[in-house]
Amino acid sequence: MTMSDFQTEILAPISAHAVYLHCCRQPQALNTEIKQTLIQLQETLASTPAVIGLGASLLNFLKLDIPNMRSFPHLPASHIDMHAFDIDLWVWLKGDDRGDLFHRAREIQTLLAPSFAVQQTVNAFKYKSGHDLTDYEDGTENPQDQAAIACAFIESNNPALHGSSFLAVQRWQHNFSAFDAMSDAQQDAMIGRRRSDNEELDDAPESAHVKRTAQESFSPEAFVLRRSMPWSEQDNAGLYFTAFAHSFDAFEAQLQRMLGLDDGIVDALFQISTPIISSYFWCPPMQKGRLNLSALLST
Ligand code: HEM
Repeated sequence: MTMSDFQTEILAPISAHAVYLHCCRQPQALNTEIKQTLIQLQETLASTPAVIGLGASLLNFLKLDIPNMRSFPHLPASHIDMHAFDIDLWVWLKGDDRGDLFHRAREIQTLLAPSFAVQQTVNAFKYKSGHDLTDYEDGTENPQDQAAIACAFIESNNPALHGSSFLAVQRWQHNFSAFDAMSDAQQDAMIGRRRSDNEELDDAPESAHVKRTAQESFSPEAFVLRRSMPWSEQDNAGLYFTAFAHSFDAFEAQLQRMLGLDDGIVDALFQISTPIISSYFWCPPMQKGRLNLSALLST
């Protein structure tokens, strides 16, 4: 796998600002029109830092079967609603200038208009050196370098799949009143790390978030590449969680354990945060500096 095989912005550090576009297929748009729009998007994105993902609903409409692609699972045994939705097209625009991002988002919205409507725009940003708005550092245990590439991207003999990635998105909304009502010690126990120095707590409870999700504790080990960013909108805010991997299995194993579906112990994070949207995407690979849409165009 080389850097030219995948969407490099997945691997790149998070930017100072970002815009996420959640797009829905226009009901009247024909298969051929959608493909034409995606080709135009491919041209535009070649010169701008961005990542795109295609949802199962769009892939089904285009009659494209990506092995192991699926919609966000319904977890019937869970009492916590994940608010799973199919989103046809997901665009993540990255940049350092919020005004510039605004204009790029508008440009893309216009480009997509014949085939897709932008249903939701989420503005996100980097907090400190990559902290969640609870002030805990996020991403510490991410795989690095070659391990990150092996974790995030699909190796395949099929060039239309090689370098592609599966993406789990969850927009979490925090309840800051509940968070503020906790003592510092309770907050540290909820995460399982000390906010002051980011050290893992030796005596963290089983409900601590990092105990629930400890990637090496799963069998097989469950590694994902997280590239989450804080978001805020009027009085609401939280974490726009994104996890890239070569399959959805690692994310699902982590989420099952967070929900207590294995042992009845629910992740303490749910005391202060809840997902308001959950969705899955397939992020196409790259070829010669452009999105490789050959899987789509051959159907
Ligand atoms: C409100 C939402 C969330 C917040 C605020 C949050 C925050 C954090 C923080 C502060 C850490 C410790 C530092 C680090 O290693 O990154 C962490 C670790 C981690 N989180 Fe989350 N997280 C959230 C949701 C999720 C979800 C939904 C998953 C997956 C289903 C997840 C998976 C992980 C993993 C895999 C680790 C590293 C565990 C390890 O191997 O030590 N997180 N998270």
